[in-house]
Amino acid sequence: MNPRVEKALNEQVIKESSSSQFYLAMASWSENNGLNGTSKFLYTHSDEERFHMLKLIKFINERGGKAVIPGIAQPPVEFDNLERVFELLLEHELAVTASINNLVDICLQEKDYTTHNFVQWYVSEQLEEEALARSILDKLRLIGGDKGGMYMFDRDLEAAVNLSAKIASQPA
Ligand code: FEO
Repeated sequence: MNPRVEKALNEQVIKESSSSQFYLAMASWSENNGLNGTSKFLYTHSDEERFHMLKLIKFINERGGKAVIPGIAQPPVEFDNLERVFELLLEHELAVTASINNLVDICLQEKDYTTHNFVQWYVSEQLEEEALARSILDKLRLIGGDKGGMYMFDRDLEAAVNLSAKIASQPA
């Protein structure tokens, strides 16, 4: 495998791994603050990031490279409020998108069209994740600090997670 592409893919492994840990910390904070639906959403999101990491690891190894498993950095334990959680989540996703775009650039520079093709899955995924984070943040800003609104937000998020899990478990 092209060494420059391999290095960039391994850097992406670190980013997906740290996303998973970051969202896990957010999930745990939400759970401790009585936001069960939000915590469910964030636990699921953390699992998805782990899947993004695994997909990269397998690809690197299958293509004759060597995946490097990163160490675990300590994510934050406390967050100011739920709006801040999703602001941080969106900022994080924007940074991941920039990193994916950089990976696409490197693939083109190195004429590695197979990896370029593989990375397109991440390009689409980032579009979806950014849109989702933005729509959640918009809702939270609309609610402001209203407790009733927050209760409904949390309940709706739980319903959305349950619905996606149900759809995912149905045979294709
Ligand atoms: Fe895998 Fe949300 O970036």
